Amino acid sequence: MSAEFTVPDSENVALMLKKLSLLWKNRAAVNNTHPEYSELAFNESKKDFSESLLPFRLHDAWQEAPEDVKSRCLSYAWGIYNLKTIYIECDIVTPACEDIIKCPPVNSPNRAELQDVMSEALLDEALHTRMSVMACNYIYDRRKLEPLNYTDFNLIRWRKQMLESCSADWQRRLTRFAVACASETLITDYLRVMAEDKSIQRICHEVTRIHAEDEWSHSSVFSYVAYDIVRDLGYSERKYLRNTMLKTADLFADNELGAWKSVFNLAGMPYAREIIAETESCNEIGIYLESAEAVISRIGL
Ligand SMILES: [Fe+2]
Ligand SMILES: [Fe+2]
Repeated sequence: MSAEFTVPDSENVALMLKKLSLLWKNRAAVNNTHPEYSELAFNESKKDFSESLLPFRLHDAWQEAPEDVKSRCLSYAWGIYNLKTIYIECDIVTPACEDIIKCPPVNSPNRAELQDVMSEALLDEALHTRMSVMACNYIYDRRKLEPLNYTDFNLIRWRKQMLESCSADWQRRLTRFAVACASETLITDYLRVMAEDKSIQRICHEVTRIHAEDEWSHSSVFSYVAYDIVRDLGYSERKYLRNTMLKTADLFADNELGAWKSVFNLAGMPYAREIIAETESCNEIGIYLESAEAVISRIGL
């Protein structure tokens, strides 16, 4: 922890948590009405995903592939993207929210405020999961595609291994918090391109934009909660928290080539094996690391 940094006292944390809660009541998507997805106009000629996000976009075999195969791959890219989002919400963020709700940090005087903001975030994430499920199925239905079933995301597998290697309950709890706290910052980077790309299918842009706005509003919830957790940690625990958050950035940037292997199979992609073998396993790592480092220094690690 840097010498000049002081963690805000609990009174200031309480004040900010109350402000965030007020913001949530006015702004969160879960408190607003939404159009029925099934009624949104579908434009067959529009792409369902931003090609600039594909890790193999510059590979010759991708560039020379037939347009209909590329279009199918872009629809499945939307599928992978949302499935990974669903896993992040359900397996990473939700368990950490539940930890705080069930048992807020023992020395914090902000018990009620912490439970308040965390239960609000939990509602947000439940809606985001639902939005991803519906928007994925909408595309599979309109494009008449067999839905992608994939459960083996590297980010999720790594988290599970980390938890299995923990020897005490407090360590598992800290791990769950670290991965969630980093993810809550990184998901904004993850959503940014799609949220800003108006050239793609309207539903894909809208769903990502609404999600990104929610994440933008509630991303500081986790860093304020972190203050009340970090305050009581010793040197080695802080170091562990920092390292776990940095490692989360690595895994966030993972291209999940296993999922792409399944997709190429479903989409009938020529030279699939070569594309997979010649694509780096990580993408955009610099952006994610920068964001993780920013949140680490913000919470005083
Ligand atoms: Fe979310
Ligand atoms: Fe979130």
